[in-house]
Amino acid sequence: MAGGDAKGRGTWASGIGFILAAAGSAVGLGNIWRFPYITAENGGGAFVLLYLGCIALVGLPIMIAEIMIGRSTQKSTVSAFRQLAGKKSPWVSLGWIGVLCGYLILSFYAVVAGWALHYVVRSVTGALAGKSADQLQAAFTQLSTDGGQSILALVVFMALTMAMVMGGVEKGLERWARILMPALLLMLVGLLVYSFTLSGFGEAFRFVFGFHAHDLTGAGVLEALGHSFFTLSLGMGAMLTYGSYLRRDTDIVGNSIAIAVLDTVIALLACLVIFPITFTAGIETAQGPGLVFISLPIAFSKMAGGSILATVFFALLSFAALTSTISMLEVATSYFIDERGWSRHKATLVSGSAITLLGIPSALTGATVFFGSGMKERFGRDWFSLVSDFSSNILLPLGGFGIALFVAWKVGDRLRHDEFLAGSSFGKFYRLWLGVLRFFVPIAVALVFLKAIGINIF
Ligand code: TRP
Repeated sequence: MAGGDAKGRGTWASGIGFILAAAGSAVGLGNIWRFPYITAENGGGAFVLLYLGCIALVGLPIMIAEIMIGRSTQKSTVSAFRQLAGKKSPWVSLGWIGVLCGYLILSFYAVVAGWALHYVVRSVTGALAGKSADQLQAAFTQLSTDGGQSILALVVFMALTMAMVMGGVEKGLERWARILMPALLLMLVGLLVYSFTLSGFGEAFRFVFGFHAHDLTGAGVLEALGHSFFTLSLGMGAMLTYGSYLRRDTDIVGNSIAIAVLDTVIALLACLVIFPITFTAGIETAQGPGLVFISLPIAFSKMAGGSILATVFFALLSFAALTSTISMLEVATSYFIDERGWSRHKATLVSGSAITLLGIPSALTGATVFFGSGMKERFGRDWFSLVSDFSSNILLPLGGFGIALFVAWKVGDRLRHDEFLAGSSFGKFYRLWLGVLRFFVPIAVALVFLKAIGINIF
């Protein structure tokens, strides 16, 4: 195999393969399901601008740092920190946080991904057609309250993810990214062309790109920052692990920019697909997580060819989710391969099954069982929101904070500089990047973190 392949772990066969796989990880439910509704909740344009700033000033510098750790060690997350910091160093806990996070995030993410897949089936079979708004609202509630359907969708989605991860780096992760990502782009552009013809497009465009300073709020700043982590797959070693399959001569900075740009463009296009549809149909957008699963189906049901549009949209959502779930499972899998010497087959099977089991209480989120409404009544939140809040609001910022500090202050300048420069034409930005990573990033991330644990600075 090509140079830089440590002990047959696998490497990306091509530069574009890496970019597609990493962008596949980044582009997911975060872009198409979550970003549009948090944009709606935070009033549009001003929030979008903040978000762009967070991606450029916090997300991108951390992504470069994460990929650097992986590429320089050619190891997955726990082993990489062991190699750079010493076997028993406290920094190794960053690796453990990553593996734990991989289990937790994937366990609830795959539930929502399963719903997306379920909606593909509903669209294809025409189950969403000709329904009233109330019926469509009830249809979503039913999915999240009927544990059986939700669990089945979770199991199917996890099985797909496991099958792809078992294929390995080149024949699994890269091959599927090469198929799913172009298909995703094609569907997105198709829907965009459709949305462009709608009367609500202008209003939607102004909503997403119109800047009104008075819409800016402190809470919006923190939401934008937190989301920039999640959407770029940072803080748990997913980019680190993908970076470990990179050859030594690839340009980390240039690739990171390409990944961040693709991710951002797709999030913005998702807004320009969704809002023209909901605005044209005159439907309320600021209703949180139900935007994609309730508002959109209502809008589709009022449109000619709605079933076809719905099918394409939910297939797009499922594809985006799949290339993300692959990357989360890869973090858990590669830990057992690198640290325990397991075969990829066994590592995938064990982690994947454990995560599926862990996801079952999340799949019961709306059901009247202990992990659903029972837990919510007694403790104020159900299992799903407990796991999702703890992992994305606490563990991810903690991981990102640690990674930024580690690369900025602990790693030697020699290694950092060499990694930054290898194959890159961005060498002149080294000092700038390092300065941002040393001072700006830790402070910004610390603010998100404090907010997550209930201490509001703004
Ligand atoms: N970035 C993906 C999204 O926006 C989710 C994701 C994939 C992720 N891998 C990750 C989030 C690792 C955090 C960490 O949907």
